[in-house]
Amino acid sequence: MVDTLNIDINKTAKSRIQEVDFTNIPFGKVYSDHMFVADFEGGQWKNFRIKPYEPLQLSPANATLHYGQSVFEGMKAYKNEAGEVLVFRPKANFLRLNKSAERMCIPQISEEMFMQGLDELLKLDQDWVPDLPNTSLYIRPFIFAADDYIGIRPSDTYRFMIFTCPVGAYYSEPVKVKIETKYSRAAAGGTGAAKAAGNYAGSLYPAMQAHKQGYHQLIWTDALTHQYIEESGTMNVMFVIGDTLLTSPAGDTILAGITRDSVLTLAREWGYKVEERKVSVKEVMEAIEAGTLKEAFGTGTAATIAQIAVIGHEGKDHTLPAVEGREFSNRVLKSLDEIKTGRAEDKWNWVHKF
Ligand code: COI
Repeated sequence: MVDTLNIDINKTAKSRIQEVDFTNIPFGKVYSDHMFVADFEGGQWKNFRIKPYEPLQLSPANATLHYGQSVFEGMKAYKNEAGEVLVFRPKANFLRLNKSAERMCIPQISEEMFMQGLDELLKLDQDWVPDLPNTSLYIRPFIFAADDYIGIRPSDTYRFMIFTCPVGAYYSEPVKVKIETKYSRAAAGGTGAAKAAGNYAGSLYPAMQAHKQGYHQLIWTDALTHQYIEESGTMNVMFVIGDTLLTSPAGDTILAGITRDSVLTLAREWGYKVEERKVSVKEVMEAIEAGTLKEAFGTGTAATIAQIAVIGHEGKDHTLPAVEGREFSNRVLKSLDEIKTGRAEDKWNWVHKF
């Protein structure tokens, strides 16, 4: 039985939507009119409210600012041909948010709070869901420690929020990535599997070094040997070598991407040979040499299917086959797009409509 949440709704006096050029939206800089907020106090979630998007007031001693006790998610909403709003796999994001929360000592949230908060927010801001090709409404749910306390312990109070932003492509072109063999993103037993704020902070310095060398992103390798591919900074990574779709197993050090899972599901449905196993840097390099590496791409909510054009390794750049000829990744991008926008059958019940 699903309880109905009592959400207090305070609408903005003046929408900002007229100020937005939907034909040219940068990623993550334009925010919709409203946000959903809930507080965790006295051992329970309460004060469910939707209010105009606005800055937060925080104490300088706020625990998140100092120790990063915070987790987040990324989802996307689209419009179908009838103009209805469709959210892609929100239940999967809800489950992963709670998994991340558990790892970071953050209290669990209920499915009702997540889904009803989301639905009410989207009902209010549905005009913000773009419908031009390659655009969507990016949805950012997150939970952060709210105590004003600078000792180290899990916070007693938290805030859960959802805000949204219309977005265009995260990467505007096929990406150039560097295989990182010095720095590490995650180690066994660490927080790599959680979508925890600090994981991203720790990745910035190595990524900046790669930017200076002309790369968009890194491909992380395992912290122990740097011989096995893990994930990229904003996405999971997949390869088509010969007739096989290959990707590293999600687990302790690799985020269980929801787009990753969707791609693997479609590949299996279509009869592709799929292997989720440790992928060595050596075999990728050998496949490039031998001409058997046909495709390499990232998968992520923000990134969608991001084609990898160049892989840098040990000071050498390897140019991969032309994007136009990549049969699998182009097919999966098109097919996912059709499912997300209601133009193809939703066999797995991935699409949520309020
Ligand atoms: C997402 O794909 O939703 C993410 O959270 C990646 C983020 C770094 C933009």
